[in-house]
Amino acid sequence: MKFAIPFTILPFLAVVWAQDSSLRQVKQAFQAANIPRDLSITFNPTVFLDVSLPQPSGPVITLRAGTQLPRDATAGPPSFSLRGVSPRGPFVIAMVDPDAPTPAEPVYAQIRHFLGGNFVIDGRERFAGPHQLYNSSAAITEFRQSNPPAGSPAHRYVYLVFKQPPGFNEQVLVTPETSIGLFNISGFAEEAGLGKPIGGTYILVAPDS
Ligand SMILES: *[C@@H]1O[C@H](CO)[C@@H](O)[C@H](O)[C@H]1NC(C)=O
Ligand SMILES: *[C@@H]1O[C@H](CO)[C@@H](O)[C@H](O)[C@H]1NC(C)=O
Repeated sequence: MKFAIPFTILPFLAVVWAQDSSLRQVKQAFQAANIPRDLSITFNPTVFLDVSLPQPSGPVITLRAGTQLPRDATAGPPSFSLRGVSPRGPFVIAMVDPDAPTPAEPVYAQIRHFLGGNFVIDGRERFAGPHQLYNSSAAITEFRQSNPPAGSPAHRYVYLVFKQPPGFNEQVLVTPETSIGLFNISGFAEEAGLGKPIGGTYILVAPDS
């Protein structure tokens, strides 16, 4: 009896168990899905990027690299945490779809589903993560739900976190007016001085049937 888990903390445990648990596995999952190649990025994560999506009913879902979610579960908006972090931020977070309109012919890719800067860790949080990321400035590209077109196989939706360089808030390479299609996260990272991503995760989402 004394080992029974109170019912009320089960949803919390379910979230904890679902998140990524090894950086090597995250890196391998990216490689197995050809994400570094298709995004022209070098991906050697040093932190876990935990992306949590609120659900219409039930507990939030924290993404685990490579899992598939029903589209209904991806409405967002996402919240973000880092684990294994040393820098305090600020950070830039991007989400892209390299498979639009279809993985076989991604002629609109990448679609930029989210781009935002000035994510910081609250200074009051203790050293041992997870560290919730807070932002007080509007996203550059506001979050858009995964929306693979009917008939397409599942798309990959990739989240990446970068250290934010000084002066990033003045960049005009991408603004809220910039088309979300034909984006190149690697080219943007290079031109905006973001360097290589320090963490990331991805999910698969198929069209509603
Ligand atoms: C903060 O990030 C969220 C996504 O997590 C985004 O929707 C929002 O526009 C950003 N800015 C503010 C002020 O909330
Ligand atoms: C994206 O940018 C990178 C770096 O600038 C470049 O190597 C790559 O070819 C670009 N990809 C596309 C599809 O243009």
